[in-house]
Amino acid sequence: MDRNILIVYYSRSANTEKIAQLIQQKIGGTLCEIEPELAYPASYNAVVEQAKKEIQAGFRPELKTKIEHIESYDTVFVGSPNWWSTIAPPIATFLEGYDLSGKTVVPFCTHGGGGAGRVERDIVKLCPQSTMMPGLAIYGSGGGNAESQVSAWLQELGFVER
Ligand SMILES: Cc1cc2nc3c(=O)[nH]c(=O)nc-3n(C[C@H](O)[C@H](O)[C@H](O)COP(=O)(O)O)c2cc1C
Repeated sequence: MDRNILIVYYSRSANTEKIAQLIQQKIGGTLCEIEPELAYPASYNAVVEQAKKEIQAGFRPELKTKIEHIESYDTVFVGSPNWWSTIAPPIATFLEGYDLSGKTVVPFCTHGGGGAGRVERDIVKLCPQSTMMPGLAIYGSGGGNAESQVSAWLQELGFVER
């Protein structure tokens, strides 16, 4: 099937970005980095504390990124780091702010040992009218195995590599 693919991701320290780029290299599509208006702190401890408060409060940061013609995509990859077992708040803002109903949503995340946690379930909650495909969870940047993990997953889902 010929799909019109959008690959949306948020990444503070480039792990999720690396996976997003690998997906695009393999199957094409438009890469779109979600950036909040206010960047998160560079300090790990500071961002961990801030993220905890934001997630507990259900805070939705304003986004700098505006996506044109979301209606023209039928398949949307959604990538987030695992933050406190869920999606990073900028991804929650994206999912609430754009209408993904009727589209296929393909989640992926990177993590520090906790796997996907509630990432996939929380994505489903924010786009309940989308068809979800099984996601990919990668430890850190995936190291030397990142490419083969991404490839195996895409093949399983039936995406044909270029
Ligand atoms: C605020 C914050 C919270 C995190 N919470 C978790 C967690 O609950 N479980 C986990 O496995 N990793 C956690 N991590 C680690 C990140 O998921 C991991 O480093 C990820 O690959 C970062 O992706 P990025 O480089 O795309 O930002 C957390 C990192 C940050 C900054």
